[in-house]
Amino acid sequence: MHVAALLMFGATGDLSRRMLLPSLFGLDADGLLPADLRIVATARSKLDDAGFREMAGEALESAIDAERRTPAAVAQFLARLSYVPLDASQPQGFDALKAAVGDTPDLSIFLSTAPSLFEPTIAGLQASGLAGDGTRLALEKPLGHDLASSAAINDAVRAAFPEARTFRIDHYLGKETVQNLLALRFANLLFEPLWNQDGIDHVQITVSETVGLEGRGDYYDGMGALRDMVQNHILQLVALVAMEPPARFDATSVRDEKVKVLRSLRPIGAVEVEACSVVGQYAGYADELGRASVTETFVALKLHIDNWRWKDVPFYLRTGKHLTARQSEITVEFKPVPHSIFGDRSGPLCANRLVIRLQPHENIRLTMMAKQPGLDRDGLKLREVPLDIGLANAFADTRRRIAYERLLLDLIEGDPTLFVRRDEVEAQWAWIDRIRAGWAATGMAPRPYAPGSWGPDAAKALMARDGREWHD
Ligand code: BG6
Repeated sequence: MHVAALLMFGATGDLSRRMLLPSLFGLDADGLLPADLRIVATARSKLDDAGFREMAGEALESAIDAERRTPAAVAQFLARLSYVPLDASQPQGFDALKAAVGDTPDLSIFLSTAPSLFEPTIAGLQASGLAGDGTRLALEKPLGHDLASSAAINDAVRAAFPEARTFRIDHYLGKETVQNLLALRFANLLFEPLWNQDGIDHVQITVSETVGLEGRGDYYDGMGALRDMVQNHILQLVALVAMEPPARFDATSVRDEKVKVLRSLRPIGAVEVEACSVVGQYAGYADELGRASVTETFVALKLHIDNWRWKDVPFYLRTGKHLTARQSEITVEFKPVPHSIFGDRSGPLCANRLVIRLQPHENIRLTMMAKQPGLDRDGLKLREVPLDIGLANAFADTRRRIAYERLLLDLIEGDPTLFVRRDEVEAQWAWIDRIRAGWAATGMAPRPYAPGSWGPDAAKALMARDGREWHD
């Protein structure tokens, strides 16, 4: 009998409780999981099936609205779950896992564990026969801390799982608005003719957070904002904004185009870092961490993509913790009109801007110049007005899904389009490593900034030098 199974490592962890279990429940409640799918959970905690189901039930209570959490839906979901305690660093434990999973030609494995456990886990999966033909492996970040460590993980994975069955997660790719970016660009004629150096002045991407370390001090301090956010999520956004139209919406075509962008990023090294990057650390970070540190909690960058489409179009990126607002958005600023026929009295003519907001509320907005109502005896008065594509209103009857719902379903169904291929990850790391080496070579250290601000003033200066400003 064909039985599909999902094996979850790190199943008692924070990601599992906040995102993975609620996402799986959401899919199940909507009838989207294969009817026979069994979910085998594992982690170090010494729980049994009943104990894990109780934990999962509590996770659903805090993550899912009461009206969607009907007793029948919860019972159906919990019945899919079983639990095997395992220390993944000990190979002998994997036989019990294999016994719990049973023989299935349709197995998906999700690793949400410390990276130090990736290699022993893969070895255990191989030795126990769990890494058989057809098994898919999903990996959560961090996939290394530089190119060399990422390559080592990728090599270990490749020994057991071919690239086509390796699903590297970047949860930003599961966000609805990120996928909408592709629809916007490639399902509309309007933007593409202007989407190049003739029509676009610059692009800016802000991913700002109001939270600080959230109890993840050891992990975060070892990474910093550049590696935690830019290496993965933000470079993926850059690739989606900048890529050429893929031949088709399939895994190979989309990822072929993204990697071309990532390989065209102009290197930022020791010569360029001072002009092209700003690093900051919020005041109070060392106290929160419990020790002094030079890790950056804020980074701003100016980058160029060396190809025909993007020649001389800068991309400005910034991200950080403890900033003014939680906001993730991409702003594409078009060039100004070449000449104003309206004279000085009309007020300034602002360039059109397309703002794609991922968070906190998904939204796509185009700013346009329009005439202010009135008789205008002394000349037309113009003002910038927004044209909103309010996705929440346009699709009010559709539930907004957690990014992981999409990604887990794609994993279970075997579609890798929204997962990151090895060559992409490695192009990302190569570019990031050079920046870090540049910081080390020039002795660039983070500048302090006040929590609740937009980061160090130098980030404003980075754009002001080019006569531009961040759209806050
Ligand atoms: C994670 C980072 O990848 O993304 C976190 O490790 C960050 O530091 C998080 O807070 C942000 O994700 P989101 O979906 O809340 O923007």
